[in-house]
Amino acid sequence: MLSRKVTSHGQDSSYFLGWQEYEKNPFDPIHNPSGIIQMGLAENQLSFDLLESWIEENQESNWYRKQGGSVFRELALFQDYHGLPEFKKVLAEYMSEIRGNKVKFDVDKLVLTAGSTSANEILMFCLAEPGEAFLIPTPYYPGFDRDLKWRTGVEIIPIHTSSSNNFTITKPSLQEAFQRAQTLNLKVKGLFLTNPSNPLGTTLSLQELHLLLFFSLSHSLHIVSDEIYSATASFPTPSFIETLSRLLPDPLHPAWSRLHVVSSLSKDLGLPGFRIGAIYSHNAELVAAATKMSSFGLVSSQSQFLLSRILADKPFIRGYARENRRRLGRRRGVMQAGLREAGLHCLRGEAGLFCWVDMRGMMGPAATFEAEAELWRKMVMEFGVNVAPGASCHCSEPGWFRVCFANVAEETLREALRRIKAVVADAGIRR
Ligand SMILES: Cc1ncc(COP(=O)(O)O)c(C=O)c1O
Repeated sequence: MLSRKVTSHGQDSSYFLGWQEYEKNPFDPIHNPSGIIQMGLAENQLSFDLLESWIEENQESNWYRKQGGSVFRELALFQDYHGLPEFKKVLAEYMSEIRGNKVKFDVDKLVLTAGSTSANEILMFCLAEPGEAFLIPTPYYPGFDRDLKWRTGVEIIPIHTSSSNNFTITKPSLQEAFQRAQTLNLKVKGLFLTNPSNPLGTTLSLQELHLLLFFSLSHSLHIVSDEIYSATASFPTPSFIETLSRLLPDPLHPAWSRLHVVSSLSKDLGLPGFRIGAIYSHNAELVAAATKMSSFGLVSSQSQFLLSRILADKPFIRGYARENRRRLGRRRGVMQAGLREAGLHCLRGEAGLFCWVDMRGMMGPAATFEAEAELWRKMVMEFGVNVAPGASCHCSEPGWFRVCFANVAEETLREALRRIKAVVADAGIRR
């Protein structure tokens, strides 16, 4: 009855099915202690108290007041898709701040979008025709199958990485993906990178950044760099824009018009509900086109107003960023220690809201994606822990799982780790 477009949404992977199971039977320490614990959701709930205290102390921002007067009418009528100038200014400064002030962001190159979901889709609409392709390293965020492909008709060609070198992107893996696209008769328009990576929890090394930059230059490709986990890294790490500023500082070099950075407040500040994202690009034509497209997914003036106040409070934001990194690092430590105690190893990560866990030893003799799906089903249905199986992230090797650690209370995390330990005992881990 409905169109083919709406029924092929890319949202039917185990990633989303796990959420559905959780919704049917959510864990609650008092009311439903045998329910499913949601470890499949990359949410950052660790620093809400800091934001809540700020709001408590700055009531004026809550009540749409500025310098004693009401801005209610101004905000109610505001619908300029260029965004509130005072918000864009502080957002650009915030983007520099969380990158250790090593690069400056210019407000005129910034497009506001309803979260990075919208930013990523807009970039696909702007950079590729239906049937053209972007190369994406695996494993990748399962939502990309929906966000990048669904409405745009753009194709994803995976760049396969392997656990043998900790999922590093290599020249042969890039070349192999490029060739595969050509064999499939797909024109490659760009590379799509997530840095820091979801689901790996790692950041691109300088060597990888150089390789990707030079590969993109040699094939005249765009680079989209989704950097929405930037402030979750334990320390500011190198990025494309910084590398480009160092290696090719001439702003007229074509590489500059082909690099597009995606940002969002969903993970760093834990505000996915506010739907605040952005595209940053030196390509004036793209900025103009993306600004027009953003009218399908604007950030409400109310959100812009509140966040312009919070981000303008520099001492608060600096303190928040430091404390949030510290809390995330500590949580990552609790998670890694619990996994170790359960006999599991995870990839050494320094960013993100998750660990990338090696459960290959728990799958029995058959190292297949069917065995991975069976293990996942058992974890969710019998042991009550929802995690994201590697297959949903297009990992090329079965047996890896993404386990989130920042969306639950610490006691709930410890209960989840006890359950994971019980799954390991049940599987009789093989070494
Ligand atoms: C890599 C990546 N990009 C984009 C998104 C979407 O985020 P937003 O809430 O900003 O739309 C997510 C959400 O998990 C993500 O992990």
